[in-house]
Amino acid sequence: MIVVAIDGPGGVGKSTAARGLARRLDVPHVDTGAFYRAATLAVLRAGVDPADGPGSAEVARRAVIGWRAGRALLDGEDVEDAIRGPEVTANVSAVSAHPEVRAALLERQRAGVRERGGVVEGRDAGTVVVPDADLKVWLTAAPAERARRRAGQLGRTAPGEVERLTAELAARDDADAAQMARARDAVVMATDELEASQVLDRLEAMARSAREASGRREEARG
Ligand code: DC
Repeated sequence: MIVVAIDGPGGVGKSTAARGLARRLDVPHVDTGAFYRAATLAVLRAGVDPADGPGSAEVARRAVIGWRAGRALLDGEDVEDAIRGPEVTANVSAVSAHPEVRAALLERQRAGVRERGGVVEGRDAGTVVVPDADLKVWLTAAPAERARRRAGQLGRTAPGEVERLTAELAARDDADAAQMARARDAVVMATDELEASQVLDRLEAMARSAREASGRREEARG
């Protein structure tokens, strides 16, 4: 069993890396940001003000968040597209900043790795969600590179898009700053110069040696 935490700011390639690594290791992938996104959608649908902490937490506690074939479900409905849309993206930092919302989702995030281990991605996976992870990685990339990738993902080619997305990512970094926590024992990996497959190769190699090391520790304990 192995637990890997992959954290970092938006647009550094966390999702691609975490999903790909989970597939290579044949373990679950837990996208903690998607929990916050689904809770945010529920808050907006309920007509609750995202600035209202207790109100948002109440909605989050009642929301049934699940997954089918890698797509997010809210109360049984496929909401994968909606949670990646501009309305949720514009409000998710406000909703996820409430400590009571984070408390409402934490155990559900942890449950995803309890049986078979897994790869957990987010902002605080290595510090809060799975602080005992066998491997913690903090991904970084320069703001312009993150924006360029995001533009590619979204298929936006209009002039000025990369600049606009750079500003948007910077604003979200600021809004998320309190939640972003790099574990002291995290391996920092700059992804600017790497293809996605190279990031994955490195992560897989690190994960396999972390798994061997933890196997040896378990054996030593008998
Ligand atoms: O990774 P993402 O862009 O899907 O995350 C959406 C938002 O959720 C992000 O703006 C910050 C928040 N988030 C968080 O506060 N803690 C996490 N562990 C993951 C995401």
